[in-house]
Amino acid sequence: MSFRLQPAPPARPNRCQLFGPGSRPALFEKMAASAADVINLDLEDSVALSDKASARENIITAINTLNWGTKTLSVRINGLDTPFWYRDVVDLLEQAGDRLDQIMIPKVGCAADVYAVDALVTSIERATGRSKAISFEVIIESAAGIAHVEEIAASSPRLQAMSLGAADFAASMGMQTTGIGGTQQAYYMLHQGAQYWGDPWHWATAAIVAACRTHGVLPVDGPYGDFSDDEGFRAQARRAATLGMVGKWAIHPKQIALANEVFTPSAAAVGEAREILAAMAAAKDRGEGATVYKGRLVDIASIKQAEVIVKQAELIAGKS
Ligand code: COA
Ligand code: MG
Repeated sequence: MSFRLQPAPPARPNRCQLFGPGSRPALFEKMAASAADVINLDLEDSVALSDKASARENIITAINTLNWGTKTLSVRINGLDTPFWYRDVVDLLEQAGDRLDQIMIPKVGCAADVYAVDALVTSIERATGRSKAISFEVIIESAAGIAHVEEIAASSPRLQAMSLGAADFAASMGMQTTGIGGTQQAYYMLHQGAQYWGDPWHWATAAIVAACRTHGVLPVDGPYGDFSDDEGFRAQARRAATLGMVGKWAIHPKQIALANEVFTPSAAAVGEAREILAAMAAAKDRGEGATVYKGRLVDIASIKQAEVIVKQAELIAGKS
């Protein structure tokens, strides 16, 4: 480890973030009753321009009246290039009660974007005497966002989570696809005439994870658009989990159980992690730094790998 230690991310489950348009208040009670760890009420791209003001009112009423349980409650505001975002922040901070946990800032391109929202939020918190500090989450979904991902991860002590937004990201990067996450037909290698598909989201995912882990932020995989394709969702989510992300968005309720399944460490994985910790404890007692577990090397780094799985399982068990 560097002399500068890696900070721990917020200790809260973030396996699934369920989205719903602010213009469809009939969905809010179902969202509140769902098994998602995080709720994202949307003011941005799922809301038509003509509905922006009424969506704000719907969301504020719902925050103040519905029972959101222990979920992290977040609202996605409009982007900083729109005429809507300042009013989103002002109305939410002035009118929504302390049940509001978090604001999601979309299309962040640089640390100054977060700084601008932070300045406005801080001023309103001081003026209104809000008792709970609002936290932030951001979406990396542009070329600028991924180019500046580390400064964005370090931009504010309010920042708790960072998601990859595949659709806007693909558009900003000029990627030739209309798919929202998952396998892309034209992204393949040829070997002896057979096609092997690669993961076009791999680099952005890994870059986000690295920036987040450096600065104690939760890395999250964004939407998987084809909600009739459960196996496609699982495959995308498993790749994200393998690369270090802690959860994934659901844009339809049927994706919640899938995300919870993938991002809850399995009993088998937790059992094996505990066995590795036990094997290493025994090795330590023998004065050894490395040993053999099921025919493979485990050493002091394996302790840290196993602890990631055990800690995540304990965090989730503590919730339920
Ligand atoms: N949260 C909670 N419940 C939802 C829901 C959501 N996001 N979306 C749909 N449901 C409910 C429906 O009300 C319906 O409930 P019912 O069985 O009690 O009637 C059930 O789930 C099945 O819904 P379905 O008919 O399959 O979906 P739909 O056609 O009503 O809506 C979408 C489909 C994709 C338009 C809708 O799910 C949606 O708006 N998703 C979120 C989009 C969004 O927020 N995007 C921004 C982030 S990318
Ligand atoms: Mg987007």
